[in-house]
Amino acid sequence: MNINISYPPSNLSRLSNAEIDRRIKKIRDWFGRRLLILVHHYQQDQIVRQADAIGDSFALSRRAAETDAEFIVFCGVHFMAETADLLTTAQQKVFLPNIDAGCSLADMADIGAVTYAWQKIQEITRDNPIPVTYINSHLDLKAFCGQNGGIVCTSSSAQAALEWAWEQKSKVFFFPDQHLGRNVATKMGIAPEEIIMYDPKRPVDAEFMRQIKNARLILWNGFCCVHQAFFMSDIERLRKSIPGIKIIVHPECPAEVARNADFMGSTEYIIRTVSAGEPGSAWGVGTERNLVYRLAKQFPDRQVILLNEKASMCRTMAMITPIHLLYQLECLSAGNLVNQVMVPENLRADALIAVQKMLDLPK
Ligand code: 13P
Ligand code: SF4
Repeated sequence: MNINISYPPSNLSRLSNAEIDRRIKKIRDWFGRRLLILVHHYQQDQIVRQADAIGDSFALSRRAAETDAEFIVFCGVHFMAETADLLTTAQQKVFLPNIDAGCSLADMADIGAVTYAWQKIQEITRDNPIPVTYINSHLDLKAFCGQNGGIVCTSSSAQAALEWAWEQKSKVFFFPDQHLGRNVATKMGIAPEEIIMYDPKRPVDAEFMRQIKNARLILWNGFCCVHQAFFMSDIERLRKSIPGIKIIVHPECPAEVARNADFMGSTEYIIRTVSAGEPGSAWGVGTERNLVYRLAKQFPDRQVILLNEKASMCRTMAMITPIHLLYQLECLSAGNLVNQVMVPENLRADALIAVQKMLDLPK
């Protein structure tokens, strides 16, 4: 498939922010309802200002499935734009203003390695576990789940997806994020000895076989480098310096951090919980910095701070800049369809089965 990839020319970098905003607004007005700009919560404020809809990956997937806009510009990372293309019609087109904005977590599981592990697990258990992939994954893994009776989940829908999966079979194979799988299963009451990480480098000896046979949840060993960089020491430091502070973290954080936080949940859950906090309350938040800084600005009557100032920046989300958005829109208004994200046709039907199953889960 040929994608027409294009990057902003250097002269755009001389524009002031006000001029960028003015030009973006002019093009948005010109397109009207034919254009929809979807923006993930981890994007910077200047992009959020231009959003028709802001959300976490679950909310944005739903929005993509509902819209009839002809052009959808996705300010997020590649797997999100890909899911949007999956959920829209052949007449609608999805664009990612910087085609290089990927997700390092999604890159940690490839179809070859997952298929090999799946076959090994089948040999050991003489059964087919239910495959569950986090939406932060490549499309061929979503198609793999569709082909094998599995499902896609987001951090908002992971518990419902796991409940559904365990109703089908006693064993679940979850990829690529080990922390999301472990944290949500632990919250659901699954014991640590029923959770095993599939390490492709580990020799398949008698002990590994026993653990796989007894496991209810087999995890891939992927992680998000942003959320894995929050530590127990960060919680201890904040609790010591701000007595009474509430700690709230995303489920991509390590188990020890999730266990010792006061609250754990998806991006939307974090926003809801902090928004419902009392004036005067203090919150230490373990997730991407753009969202945390925005919450702090939105609620000046409470203290909202990052769990760790040094961690917490998603470098690939940051690859979508206001200049990239402006350039994308200028290209579209000139009829130049650059940076379009297209789902490979041979994977579409199977991937859609697994994503639709997620959207159909009871709320
Ligand atoms: P949400 O599902 O909460 O939007 O998270 C997406 C993500 O990439 C988190 O790192
Ligand atoms: Fe991927 Fe982590 Fe960035 Fe989310 S925060 S897009 S999981 S690298």
